[in-house]
Amino acid sequence: MSRIILFTGKGGVGKSSVAAAHAVKSASDGRKTLLVSTDMAHNIADIFEKTVGPEITRLADNLYGLELDPDRMMREEYPEMNRSIAAMFSQAGFTADKIGTDFIFPGFDDLFCLLKIKSLYESRDFERIMVDCAPTGETLSLLKLPELLAWYMERFFPVGKMMVRVLSPISRYRYHVNLPTSQGMDDIGRLHGHLMELQELLKNPQISSVRLVCTLEKMVVEETKRSYMYLNLYGYQVDGLFVNRLLPRQKENLFLRHWRQIQDKYMTEIGMVFYDLPIHSIPWMPEEIRGMEAVERMVDSIFTEEYAAHYADLSACTEHEIYEKTADGYLLRLQLPGIEDREKELQVLSHGPDLDLILGHMQRRIPLPDLLRAAAIKEVRCENGELGIYFSVEENPIPHE
Ligand SMILES: Nc1ncnc2c1ncn2[C@@H]1O[C@H](COP(=O)(O)OP(=O)(O)OP(=O)(O)O)[C@@H](O)[C@H]1O
Ligand SMILES: [Mg+2]
Repeated sequence: MSRIILFTGKGGVGKSSVAAAHAVKSASDGRKTLLVSTDMAHNIADIFEKTVGPEITRLADNLYGLELDPDRMMREEYPEMNRSIAAMFSQAGFTADKIGTDFIFPGFDDLFCLLKIKSLYESRDFERIMVDCAPTGETLSLLKLPELLAWYMERFFPVGKMMVRVLSPISRYRYHVNLPTSQGMDDIGRLHGHLMELQELLKNPQISSVRLVCTLEKMVVEETKRSYMYLNLYGYQVDGLFVNRLLPRQKENLFLRHWRQIQDKYMTEIGMVFYDLPIHSIPWMPEEIRGMEAVERMVDSIFTEEYAAHYADLSACTEHEIYEKTADGYLLRLQLPGIEDREKELQVLSHGPDLDLILGHMQRRIPLPDLLRAAAIKEVRCENGELGIYFSVEENPIPHE
C-alpha cells in the first residue's frame, strides 16, 4: 500500500535533509518514491543539485522530486474561490480595501499543497510520498484547518449557497453586499469536500504518519513538544522523532564538551516528553547535506538496525496521547500497560504549561494544550493498562491557539 510520510519541525533543523535521506533510502529499496516540498522556500533542488520545479522531475532511479507552487495550483484548480472568499470577508467588514483579487488567505497556500499530495496519492503512481513540510507553525495551522473549516462550513455553507441562488442578482443593488458568484460557491464547496477527504487521508495511520525533526536547543525542543501535543490532539499519527546535529563526545575539546553537555540536558527532556516514540539521533556531519553523496551519508547514519526494527512494519500504529471531549471538559487517555497495579505510586503534577507523571523512576512530561493549562484535574483513573486524566473546563470553545 502507498504511504505518505510528512516531515515537520522548526525552521532550519534539517527537515529537508532528513526527508531527502528517507526518500533516497526508499528509492534504493526499490520503491518508486516522490519527494515533495510544500515549503515556499524550496530546497530539494539545492540538496540534489538539480533543477526541480512544479513538474515531477526524475532525480535518480525510482526517485522523483516536486516543488509545489501553491499560487499556481490555486489559480488553476479553484479559480473563483479566492475571489469569492475575499468578497465574503470584505462584506463582513474585514479590511475591505486591502483585499484584492489576488489575495491568498493565510494558511491556504500550504493547504493547496496538501490537496495536491492527496491527488498524487490517489494517482497511485508512487509507493512512497515523502513530504518536506513548511516549518512547524505553519504546518500545524494547516493540519487543524480542515476541522476549523468544516466547522465553519457546516454552519454557514448551506445558507450561503441558498442565498447565492436566491439573492445574487439583486443583492448588490438592494443590500449593498457582494455575494459570491455561483461558480465561486461551487469552488468553495469542492474545496470543502476535498479538505474533508484530505483530513481522512492524513489521519489514517495505515497510510500517513508524521515524523518530527528537531535539534537540541531550548526553543526548538519547546516548539517540538508543542507540535507533538497538537498532532496528538488532532489525531495525527506521529511515528518518530529525529534529533539532528548531535555533537560528538570530546573530552579534550572544552568547547565541544560544553555544548555536548547542553545537548545531553535537552536529550533528557526529550526522553521524558517523547516517551513513547522511537527517537533517532543523527550526528553533526562535517559538511552540509548537499549532493547525493552527502545525502547517502545521512542515510547511513539514520538507517541503522535499530531503525529497521522500529519501522519493520510500516503500517503498525501506536497510540499516543488521546484527547476526548467529555460533558464538562476533556479526558486525556494514555496507554500505560500495568498502571492499574501501581496506581498508588503514581503522582500527577502540574509543571508550568506541562503535566508531569511520576511513577518510580519514570518521569513523563506531557505538554498540555492552552485550553487545559488552567483546567482543574477532576479525576485520575487507572484501568486496563490505561491512564485517564479528567479535566474540567468551564467553557468549551473549539481547541485552537
Ligand atoms: N546532520 C547534519 N550535519 C551537518 N549539516 C546539516 C545536518 N543536517 C542538516 N544540515 C545542514 O543544515 C542546514 C539546514 O538543513 P535543512 O535545509 O535540511 O533544514 P530545514 O529544516 O529543511 O530548513 P528550512 O526550515 O529552512 O527548510 C542545511 O545547510 C543542511 O545542509
Ligand atoms: Mg527545508
